[in-house]
Amino acid sequence: MSLDLVLFGATGFTGKLVAEYLRGKPVRWALAGRDRGKLEALQRELGVDVPILVGDVRDPASLEAIVKQTRVVCTTVGPYAMYGAPVVAACAAHGVDYCDLTGETHWIRRMIDAHHEQAKQTGARIVHCCGFDSIPSDLGVWAVQDHALRTHGKPCSSIVYALGKSRGGISGGTIASMMNLMDEAKKDRAVRKVLLDPYALNPAGERGPDGPDQRSVELDRDLNAWTAPFVMAAINTRIVRRTNALSDYRYGRDFHYREVMSFPRGPRGFATAFGVTAALGGFFVAAALGPTRKLLENTVLPAPGEGPDAHTRERGSFEVRLVGQGDGFRVEGRFAGKGDPGYGATSVMLAESALCLALDGRSTGGGILTPAYAMGGQLATRLRAAGFAIEAR
Ligand SMILES: NC(=O)c1ccc[n+]([C@@H]2O[C@H](COP(=O)([O-])OP(=O)(O)OC[C@H]3O[C@@H](n4cnc5c(N)ncnc54)[C@H](OP(=O)(O)O)[C@@H]3O)[C@@H](O)[C@H]2O)c1
Repeated sequence: MSLDLVLFGATGFTGKLVAEYLRGKPVRWALAGRDRGKLEALQRELGVDVPILVGDVRDPASLEAIVKQTRVVCTTVGPYAMYGAPVVAACAAHGVDYCDLTGETHWIRRMIDAHHEQAKQTGARIVHCCGFDSIPSDLGVWAVQDHALRTHGKPCSSIVYALGKSRGGISGGTIASMMNLMDEAKKDRAVRKVLLDPYALNPAGERGPDGPDQRSVELDRDLNAWTAPFVMAAINTRIVRRTNALSDYRYGRDFHYREVMSFPRGPRGFATAFGVTAALGGFFVAAALGPTRKLLENTVLPAPGEGPDAHTRERGSFEVRLVGQGDGFRVEGRFAGKGDPGYGATSVMLAESALCLALDGRSTGGGILTPAYAMGGQLATRLRAAGFAIEAR
């Protein structure tokens, strides 16, 4: 094994951004993908002198050859529910650490059922959701609870995550993942059941007090703001609850967690929250119906390999507020970053996760883990150094 990390899917939209970020970092890494020509072109474009490894997810031997050369695989080959399983299987079998950008809850459930026990035995730390979903949620909650435990000696019994102002774009790869998720949910009742279960990623039989995600506009007393449903809550809340379970309920067995988008109190805030909720509903209806979906795919939405331009990525930003309530105390948390959340900020979060797994030493055994459980404070330190604000007071 001669490499610290392999970036698999380096030729894709997000993969290229991760490769740009890794350029010049003190780590032994390689560009990997299915097309040697494209990888060589990328190598020239970036001006990096790193090895090129060729592998296709449909060819297990090629994946095994890649995995055996490295300590960490960082993959942007998606939709993960379509292409990701052989990569996780190879890493779990060979005790190689892994990180990705999936937000596909039903697929993560499949990976837990298929590989958690084996990864525990081999020591492979398999960490899904190392992008905008779900690092601000998972590490944000971790920071708030860390503060509560250190300052008050007990965790907050509830936390609400509120996404405030955010600006960015979307890529064809993410659209393909969303559409594939909707198709699978339409066809398969078991997938729908997993997607609706607030504890879908917990160990079997381990549940807690939370119900379904918010579906309408509400006035929130903890936040003193109008709130609307947040589409990523469907994955992020499940990751935070899995972190709690993996850490032997560091946040408590009765811990409540929810995620919303927030808007200022007053008629304008209400109108915006209402508009956002209606637009979200309209998008899902249009994407579920054959003819409108074709129209969306052919006109409005980007194709795989496409995404927001450099200007949009640089001008983007996001701001998350986390409000924790404890027994006689309150903790205010914040997770904020510059760069469009879906790609600019996400590519930094994924690259720093890969570097953290490769270089920072380990604090847990193997398994299908979460970002906060596997990397917690080490990753927070890295992300702060990379310009993110992660605060709790
Ligand atoms: N969680 C988040 O916050 C977040 C943010 C951004 C993206 N994502 C997810 O990240 C994933 C990638 O998004 P993207 O926009 O970068 O997608 P993309 O541009 O379509 O890139 C997909 C990559 O997968 C590779 N690939 C496809 N089939 C393959 C196969 N059979 N074997 C090996 N490689 C294969 C492609 O190779 P070629 O270049 O050769 O075609 C390409 O490198 C998506 O699943 C998306 O949902 C998540």
